[in-house]
Amino acid sequence: MKIVTVVGARPQFIKAAAVSRILRSTPGLNEILVHTGQHYDENMSDVFFEELNIPRPDYHLGIGSGSHGAQTGRMLEAIEQVLLAERPNWVLVYGDTNSTLAGALAAAKLHIPVAHVEAGLRSFNRKMPEEINRVLTDHAADLLFAPTEAAVENLRREGIPGERVIFVGDVMYDAALYFGTRAEQRSDVLARLGLKAQNYVLATIHRAENTDNADRLRDIVSGLVDLAHDIAVVLPLHPRTRGALQREGLLDKAIGPICLIDPVGYLDMIMLEKHARLIITDSGGVQKEAFFYRVPCITLRNETEWTELVTLGWNQLCPPAQFAALGRTVLHVHNCSAAVDSQPYGSGNAGVLIVSALQKQTQ
Ligand code: UD1
Ligand code: UDP
Repeated sequence: MKIVTVVGARPQFIKAAAVSRILRSTPGLNEILVHTGQHYDENMSDVFFEELNIPRPDYHLGIGSGSHGAQTGRMLEAIEQVLLAERPNWVLVYGDTNSTLAGALAAAKLHIPVAHVEAGLRSFNRKMPEEINRVLTDHAADLLFAPTEAAVENLRREGIPGERVIFVGDVMYDAALYFGTRAEQRSDVLARLGLKAQNYVLATIHRAENTDNADRLRDIVSGLVDLAHDIAVVLPLHPRTRGALQREGLLDKAIGPICLIDPVGYLDMIMLEKHARLIITDSGGVQKEAFFYRVPCITLRNETEWTELVTLGWNQLCPPAQFAALGRTVLHVHNCSAAVDSQPYGSGNAGVLIVSALQKQTQ
């Protein structure tokens, strides 16, 4: 059986690493890896291939950045050529980026079955580019791998036939379990940055709704700068956020009080997450990793797709204006009440369940 996997953005390298490891060790399966080139900086792409032992892509499409239509359109055209040449049994796509949608659409139009990992997540905010990508990908997919029970329910409500939907848990939980110990052994990021466990806050910001809105971005910087009076704040800067801070003249305000660093590799990121006193983020992946490592998390958004963490009390939503008002007091408002043995993301074997479902469907 031949499977074409399409990836392109940072979190997809991590998700695919968890599944590819199983795929490639299963006799009779042949994975062809396609990298769209959506992310291309060394620290947004290559570092993950090296650290996570992901094989070199069979096809690197080199699409790069662009407006949504231009970027997705170029990917669609290039992926179609790969699929025509390879004629796989399945196309496997991950998450909710433009690379996900392009992979799913190119395959569906060629009548090649599509499997979607991380299906069924919804923010119910159609202004998010990711929400459009998720909904369209789910409705183009033949097999939908849901990471949570809430995701299964969302798909049911949208009328997707139940036999196409399989609850497998979250592949990012697989990755966290597999690479968590390795990070402790290999990463020296805390020493490099002069940080002490429990003595810093880790922040990440990259969502378009926060970077592309000057007021929200200013509120976030103002909250982080105030917090930095009381505790070290480490912010690995996504290139989109660096660009936005520069554009809005906010970079100078942030440099100095905040420890701004370039994006880090996954092992360094795990260490920074595990030992933080608090995580402040608008990332989907980082919200869950905070829970995996049992670190309290504040999410700088109005809503989240990972609602179970809010219900559990592990994650607290805090829109940027509220965060600016809270500033340093944010350290004291978060009170985690979740039972530490809750497992809303499965058992850490999502990769195994995905591969066995693909095999079963193809027999
Ligand atoms: C994308 C995904 C988002 C995901 C995020 C993970 C879409 C619509 N968005 O957002 O869902 O959470 O990846 O990080 O697919 N840039 C660089 N170097 C790079 C990559 C990007 O400089 O290697 C800059 C470019 O200026 C680019 C901007 O970042 O225009 C945004 O990149 P893009 O891939 O379009 O969106 P992300 O914000 O990364
Ligand atoms: N991540 C990383 N280095 C960083 C920032 C994030 O390795 O500097 C990892 C993080 O641990 C998580 C994933 O990237 O596994 C999340 O990606 P991102 O926040 O870019 O996207 P999202 O999950 O919001 O789609």
